[in-house]
Amino acid sequence: MLSKDVLMGSGSGFGKVILFNEHFVVHGVPGIVSAIDSVAHAEVKEAGEGLSIKDERKGAIGYTEKKLIQQKESIDRMFKAMGINSEKTSLEIRLGGNLPSFSGIGASAASSVAIARALAEEFKMDLPDERINEIAYEAEKAYAGTPSGIDNTAATYGGLIWFKKTMTGGPNIIEKLCLKEPVEIIIGNTGIVADTKEMVAGVAARKQKTPEKYNLLVKHAEELVFKARTALRAFDLRKVGKLMNENHRLLQEIEVSCRELDHMVSLARERGALGAKLTGGGGGGCMVALTPRKDLQEKVAAAFEEEGFKVLRTKIGV
Ligand code: MEV
Repeated sequence: MLSKDVLMGSGSGFGKVILFNEHFVVHGVPGIVSAIDSVAHAEVKEAGEGLSIKDERKGAIGYTEKKLIQQKESIDRMFKAMGINSEKTSLEIRLGGNLPSFSGIGASAASSVAIARALAEEFKMDLPDERINEIAYEAEKAYAGTPSGIDNTAATYGGLIWFKKTMTGGPNIIEKLCLKEPVEIIIGNTGIVADTKEMVAGVAARKQKTPEKYNLLVKHAEELVFKARTALRAFDLRKVGKLMNENHRLLQEIEVSCRELDHMVSLARERGALGAKLTGGGGGGCMVALTPRKDLQEKVAAAFEEEGFKVLRTKIGV
């Protein structure tokens, strides 16, 4: 058998679902995110000339093509952050894993974490998770413009996380939350590939234009997420679901939902989900429904699949 360094470097990053406060986190409001049990996997080896990327992830039609420029920029940013001279490298990066490349479930952050870990192994850098997280944050700028850091944090550490971006440049607040037991959720995909960078920039522009309206919404989002943390700790799932519904309404108000997301959210609630909301950048991408117990999860998933939507059956708090 060949020794590992001759073969390649490899690494993984978790997919994620934001349960509370996407977009608001960019503006310093705490958010709650859970990693899911699907990962992006990367392998890096010396091959050919320059850099080639083989993206073999399965996902939404057009995702790979639409994200190609941002993906290249993200890898460039990682090379810089890691001190790798891209002009002198002959590398092949292969991306795979069981995390579908849907918008909204952290496919970009998971792949950045996976690539950073694979590069670190290939170049024999012994990097702690904190450094991997920082490198992936640099990469996220290519996909999200001014990211909060919530996606790369979930992709790096996994688990259920309370996250607050520190607006003054210091370290972000990252706390692990515990759930009494894992809870079934459904992630439904609209099939629309969304551009997180555009969505984040849109919110910032509207916030600047109508600060009074947005300041009130920000305040509401802040109050809501503290209640959500208490409800999660108490394992009061009905309350968690109700707060997810309220969070969706706030996300509608900041204009990041769309007709397809609203339809899927309503359908999930009609079929008995305790709560449902869009998840991630919005404008397409995915929604999440809280569906404790397998039978409820199956019922909601079946309703989506009957309408032709792709679904991930997974759990939070694993
Ligand atoms: C995207 O998954 C989450 C956003 O809040 C952007 C970010 O926090 O970086 C929309």
